[in-house]
Amino acid sequence: IEPMTNTERLDNWIRSDFVALNTALEEIYFSSEMPEEVEGKGDELKRQLEKEGKSFIVDLLKEGNTNEGFDAGFSLLGNVGLYMAACRRHMITEPSRETKSPLVEASALAMQLGASLGVVPRFASAHLENHNYAINGVAKSFTSLPDEILFLTHNTRAELAFIRASEALLRILPLGVSHPITADLLLVARRALEDVLTSNNELFTQLDTDRFFYCVRPYYKPHRVGLHEYRGANAGDFAGINVIDLLLGVCRADDSYYSQLLVDKFLFMTPDDQLILRDCMSRESLLDQFLRESITNHTESWYQKNVALFLDVAKAHGATALQHHEQLVSKFIEKPADNMGLSEKPGLTASGPPLPVLLRSLRKLADLRSAADRDDIPSRFSDMQKLRASLA
Ligand code: HEM
Repeated sequence: IEPMTNTERLDNWIRSDFVALNTALEEIYFSSEMPEEVEGKGDELKRQLEKEGKSFIVDLLKEGNTNEGFDAGFSLLGNVGLYMAACRRHMITEPSRETKSPLVEASALAMQLGASLGVVPRFASAHLENHNYAINGVAKSFTSLPDEILFLTHNTRAELAFIRASEALLRILPLGVSHPITADLLLVARRALEDVLTSNNELFTQLDTDRFFYCVRPYYKPHRVGLHEYRGANAGDFAGINVIDLLLGVCRADDSYYSQLLVDKFLFMTPDDQLILRDCMSRESLLDQFLRESITNHTESWYQKNVALFLDVAKAHGATALQHHEQLVSKFIEKPADNMGLSEKPGLTASGPPLPVLLRSLRKLADLRSAADRDDIPSRFSDMQKLRASLA
């Protein structure tokens, strides 16, 4: 048997002892009287986690061999990133207490990898979702808690369904909105978005609120790498969701609220996804194309068929956004934070702003996506009405 490389040794540790240590710590916090307080609990395990992770990372840094192609580099960055996020979760590091990350070697390696790959130097959702290579049936995770596994599998499933929808919509561009096959593609997109609704509904009913709130969510907090603090990962850090927004026309790249969101998100996505989104930002939306056609061609049978299907897709996309906000965010973040009196506390969200600010911003996004009847945001409500009115 070939001896393990340093990269493999870290990967092996991340998939075994790292998971066991995090899980043991979560059980200690969760069974204590104040499960949100982690300081002074499980200190021996925390020291072990920090020390063991560091020893693998020091070897990797010494070796200096990070030039093994994108997949290997990205996976290694994910492993260093999971280690750093776990240290943040257990308060081994805390960004407001420090001016730079005390994880000196891990920061150095993460920054070297992130800069050379063209992504943020921390773990991003891709590492745990659609770039998470499973070994013998088990993908990477922080803990072995069933709640985390449920969360990760459903995030991945919903993400892949959004990507299916986005790919179908992208394929319409070279065909045009009047092409007979455009109807097929709109149907594919609608079905994919219905798959998102089904998966998210399962997550809504099956995920345990307390376990998610106390034992899963805290791994997604912002933390420092080197000098700078990076926002946490979230399930939305992939291009597909924004491709759908832009192609449907419900969000626009020239709206500063929305483009801010895109700008802040670019480096949290894989380089492939960055290219897809960048290209999509300069395309004319299907909504605008249909509106143009409505002037002269609204009586054509292709128009009647494709516009009806387009409106179904837009409705399904809006429904996923409302479901995310009114079910997932509400049940698993807003309500537990309210009950605990934690709403105003910093450090609750993945991106950093206080919860009420984040909630308003997510509401706005859901209203844009569902083309809600609001005139204080650039909602496409009246344009959607116009299209609907053009149907016989
Ligand atoms: C962002 C909560 C599952 C898609 C967010 C944010 C929160 C949140 C609080 C804002 C992050 C921040 O800036 O701090 C939740 C909860 C979930 C869940 C509690 C389940 C327990 C999902 C799933 C998807 C998803 C399954 C589907 C892929 C998104 C997207 C964003 C986001 C796309 C970025 C903002 C946007 O474009 O809407 N989520 N989420 N989330 N989440 Fe989720």
